Amino acid sequence: MEFAVKSGDPARQRTGCIVVGVYERRRLSEAAQRVDQASDGAITQLLRRGDLAGKAAETLFLPSLPGVRAERILLVGCGREKRLEARNYRKLVAEAARQLEGFGAGDATLFLPELPVRNRDLPWRVATLAELFETTLYRFDAYKSEPDAPRHPLRQATVAVPRRADLRRAQPAVELGQAAGRGANVTRDLGNTPANICTPAYLGEQAEALAARLPGVSAEVLGPEQLEELGLQALLAVARGAEAPPRLVVLHYTGTDAATPPTALVGKGITFDSGGISIKPSASMDEMKYDMSGAAAVFGAVHAAAEAALPINLLGIVPATENMPDGRAMRPGDIIPSLDGQTIEVLNTDAEGRLVLADALAYARQLEPAEVIDLATLTGAAIVGLGHHRHAVMGNTPGLVRDLLQAGERAADPGWELPLDPEYDEQLRSPFADVANIGGQPAGTITAGCFLQRFAKGLRWAHLDIAGTAWKSGEKKGATGRPVPLLTNFLAQRAGRSL
Ligand code: BES
Ligand code: MN
Ligand code: ZN
Repeated sequence: MEFAVKSGDPARQRTGCIVVGVYERRRLSEAAQRVDQASDGAITQLLRRGDLAGKAAETLFLPSLPGVRAERILLVGCGREKRLEARNYRKLVAEAARQLEGFGAGDATLFLPELPVRNRDLPWRVATLAELFETTLYRFDAYKSEPDAPRHPLRQATVAVPRRADLRRAQPAVELGQAAGRGANVTRDLGNTPANICTPAYLGEQAEALAARLPGVSAEVLGPEQLEELGLQALLAVARGAEAPPRLVVLHYTGTDAATPPTALVGKGITFDSGGISIKPSASMDEMKYDMSGAAAVFGAVHAAAEAALPINLLGIVPATENMPDGRAMRPGDIIPSLDGQTIEVLNTDAEGRLVLADALAYARQLEPAEVIDLATLTGAAIVGLGHHRHAVMGNTPGLVRDLLQAGERAADPGWELPLDPEYDEQLRSPFADVANIGGQPAGTITAGCFLQRFAKGLRWAHLDIAGTAWKSGEKKGATGRPVPLLTNFLAQRAGRSL
């Protein structure tokens, strides 16, 4: 989607469609008032007739009106005036995008950012609109012989702001929102791509493609021999049962002075999690292609940071392998070494994510980042605890956790903190090795976090368990692109661009 920013009279826009807000009780937004005046009260008349109640995200399509230059008009309900919450603003913007896709208009001018939203300023409203116009119309049909693409896709969205003086701050907001949305879509494409195609090698190739496409981004891809040399034995142990060779993918985004220590994002890249010898039940096992969603979020966030040209340095680290059962696969009871030096007793081969992340965190430490955030579809228990709405967030640095939670709230991509008390960590004691890879049934998300914390010593570190949030099951099965909006917002904060 192409975006432009403009300020001007809604009645005078030569465009495929103008989109204006209408509140309940026949109250008109400023743009709707202008259209009403220009059309001799046509909108007031419609509302009197009861054609639109104005409930949030309700819509009414008008083919045209006298006195209005746009070919079409889309009225969008905004609920009660003065009560527009961020949640409803997002709903009505997404609904406008869906409606526009259905008409013939190839371009539209959107008078939605002028709507006052509780606790949200104009740049937020503009960025949110751009993000939602990118993500709402996403589809994944690369492997359909006959894609069911819309006949008249929306190609150009013009974001209207109330005053000329608003243009200067609206432009970077569009760019940031668009970058967040496109980054999320990159993440969704990778997640939705099945494991026979999206292998560790494929992730390496995608990293190289991304580096070739984006200014400031470079990629390094390490294979099994290099992993052996470096000593990433925990990653190699998980990879042992797989035919597809593992990779460690490292993305570098340099957006500022090379001496500035980077923020590091570490993403779990299990391209398929069968459970290994501790094999999973077969129901819904197809969804374990999404077990590289943390890795996909790293790609999406780096993509977003680079497209928005954020003045920060960023590292993306992705340990990538399948987790498969085989004659060479690691067994329950095996004791494995790790890059960090700690030995690990593998009591369940299905707790593989923390093994590959242990090595990736130790590898990250060698690169001396300012802070590290790992992203992982780590535990089914995260779904039990928080369902599909909030990420589980843990960490050893309160300020970092707070900033991530705040970014999640702003981006409508929220998390919730869980504690990492030492009592939980004790569940990981092993009689034979430094640590066991499982901590028993109680508090499975927290003990996984405690395991990672042991490998994050000396780092400012936070962990997002995205097992419940990275994809949807059922009829609307598909990757969500989360937590890219959270991460983009967080990185924008780090760059001094709060939203
Ligand atoms: N990738 C899974 C976690 C998962 C399961 C995410 C279902 C989303 C949906 C992870 O590797 C795993 O299998 N975790 C185990 C850990 C257990 C063995 C301690 C789990 O959650 O059952
Ligand atoms: Mn597993
Ligand atoms: Zn897994």
